[in-house]
Amino acid sequence: MKKHESQSNLSINPGKQKESQVPYKDASLPISERIEDLMRRMTLYEKIGQMTQLDITLINTTGKQKDIELDPEKARDMILHHHIGSFLNGEAVPPRTWYDFMHELTRIAVEETRLGIPIIYGIDHIHGASYLEGATIFPQGINIGASFNPKHAYNSGWVTALESADLGHHWIFTPILDLGVNPLWARLWETYGEDPCLSGVMGVAYVNGLQNNDETTPYKQAATGKHFLGYSDPKAGWDRTPALLPMQQIHEFHRPSFQKAIDAGLKTIMINSGEINGIPALASHDILTKLLRDEMGFEGVVITDWDDIGKLVNFHYTAENFKEATYDTVMAGIDMSMTPLHLKFNTSLLELVQEGRIPEKRIDESVRRILKLKFELGLFEHPYPRSDRFERIGSKENRQRALDAARESIVLLKNENHTLPARKSSRIGVFGMSANSKRNLCGGWTIAWQGGGEDQYPADIHTIFSALKEEYPEAEVLLFGPDDIPYPKDAATSDATESSHACFIDKLNSLDVLIYAGGEEPYCEFAGNITDLRLPENQVHELKLLSESTSPLVLVLVQGRPRLINDVINDVEAILFAGLPGFEGARAISNVISGEMNPCGKMPISYPLNPNHYLSYNHKRSNLYFFDPARANKIIHGNLTTSLFPFGYGLSYTSFEYSELKLSAPSMAEKGSISATVKVTNTGQVDGRETVLWFTSTHVGRITRPVKELKHFEKVSLKPGESATLAFVITPDRVFYPDEKGSTILEKGNYSIMVGDQKQDFSIID
Ligand code: BGC
Repeated sequence: MKKHESQSNLSINPGKQKESQVPYKDASLPISERIEDLMRRMTLYEKIGQMTQLDITLINTTGKQKDIELDPEKARDMILHHHIGSFLNGEAVPPRTWYDFMHELTRIAVEETRLGIPIIYGIDHIHGASYLEGATIFPQGINIGASFNPKHAYNSGWVTALESADLGHHWIFTPILDLGVNPLWARLWETYGEDPCLSGVMGVAYVNGLQNNDETTPYKQAATGKHFLGYSDPKAGWDRTPALLPMQQIHEFHRPSFQKAIDAGLKTIMINSGEINGIPALASHDILTKLLRDEMGFEGVVITDWDDIGKLVNFHYTAENFKEATYDTVMAGIDMSMTPLHLKFNTSLLELVQEGRIPEKRIDESVRRILKLKFELGLFEHPYPRSDRFERIGSKENRQRALDAARESIVLLKNENHTLPARKSSRIGVFGMSANSKRNLCGGWTIAWQGGGEDQYPADIHTIFSALKEEYPEAEVLLFGPDDIPYPKDAATSDATESSHACFIDKLNSLDVLIYAGGEEPYCEFAGNITDLRLPENQVHELKLLSESTSPLVLVLVQGRPRLINDVINDVEAILFAGLPGFEGARAISNVISGEMNPCGKMPISYPLNPNHYLSYNHKRSNLYFFDPARANKIIHGNLTTSLFPFGYGLSYTSFEYSELKLSAPSMAEKGSISATVKVTNTGQVDGRETVLWFTSTHVGRITRPVKELKHFEKVSLKPGESATLAFVITPDRVFYPDEKGSTILEKGNYSIMVGDQKQDFSIID
């Protein structure tokens, strides 16, 4: 940019042009022409405004994220004087409140600015429209992963769009394509699990459901794949802390879920707040431009995460000040800064361009992408929210979809003596901190960032206790609060305490089944950092006490990450992993307890066994190389279990048998294929659904290979005695893997394919 041009461009708002027939407003023209026409009309500061996203607190009368009411003067200041093109955030309020807010915000942008560029509003509706009162709330990502059914990821996106697109919520900060590989990480529950194939399939389904929902026409939404990339694998387990990831691992494990979503048309990507190999992802040209743009072919909008430019100064300490941090991130490749509480990004970027340090063509590149997004979403044609479809919010049909997802996401981990289903129970005791809680079932990003207060949850959703009462209308269902549970026996000091203890155990013995709902309370991001993965001590005490009874004890784990349960596993007869199943979760859990629903969820992560050793299922062979004193100083290899329940584990009330794994040929050439088929039979007494997981393993690899890798999965419903034959075609692209540059390596040699307990070898030959 030449000096005199930049000066003329700097006038803050050079008068509104009353042009109604300007080309960029003509919907019949190609988007590329409209963009160029609009770009020619924009000043530099207007362009920078398009690259900025500010928080709702700056334009809300309350100055907070809650109690939403637009302050028009504050909004005018931001939009008219600083040309801000995007806002974000909020908390759950009624649709009418959102409608009024978005309508006025839009009106200011469209009617009062000289170019009338509409606002794009971003929001964390991560499992349904979670910041909207009355909305349908789906299970969190970890449960969607456990369902192994992409239909539920699709429905989660589809219902989110249906319930919020009309309100002017254009930009949904989901799906979370990070891998849940570190069990301590406070955002594990936001992921679809630890496996790249599972995460990719679910991510694509979500993007299709949200972005291609034809029932929201003409309103459309953009999805956000986040947090690009490696965010979920911090070495020390805490949120936003450093990850050390060789490029080969990035290509092999962390890239594929993003790549699949990009290939499916994902419109936006949010960047990892943390550092990878010593460089904050946000300031890495290698990650943002070379990898994401040049290699992965992403053409959409790249946004920073919350105040991450500032974090280069006061968190990562890689930049002296905000201006230098702005330089680093813009030159690395971001398009939009979620700034979000000040205007430092705008002033810094303006100066950097004026000083000639950042070329204006770099700004134009990003602004073109942002305008393209706005044009593609139809915002220029349909900028205003609409209020005539509120009745779709929280509809019976949508809630049924959320219930279906929750029911398929519950994983039966243990079931000794056929404790479950507890069909005939007439006296049921319900215990634990999640027994009568709605918020615990939903986790963070529900109603508010860290989850709402218990009284903010809708009256018509169930807790586990109330759902069980409905499930068992004839039975006596008793709720035991913390005060009803005496302190554990070994702490009893007086006779009175001892007798109350005995009395309590007698009472338990008179019940048919004890349901203990434990786990975690809601948390989100760094607020959920912990130093000990074990189940909290008071829960262990309570479970030990309940286990003194002769009545069977069922542990329901309502939690966002796998709290270690070794201390109690032998004290309970049955275990359900319920994860964070959302508003319909209690009904799903009670349906499974009663047997109305035969559980079919499978673990989307490896449930750790040990406090100080956890591995994902797709670890290397050498990960299990250890010294076994029991075997007289022999070092043994690969004979140790690292997880309590492996990835893909989940029981059913029926049983399935795998047989007749057959391959169409024992080998294939580099361009060939082999068809594999397997027979799955329901050998039990009731209808059931089985997730059939196809794994491969490469016997010898130049770069060490995982012990096994999921390649394909499919769910099948079978009646007792019924069989189905399932097929999977192995092609070389299913088994090749990347080197550190991302180029593929196809090993000639031997492989295995595994499904259920079946295994066959095959080879790839010249
Ligand atoms: C989170 C993102 C979220 C953003 C906007 C950040 O703190 O890391 O996942 O989308 O806030 O609320």
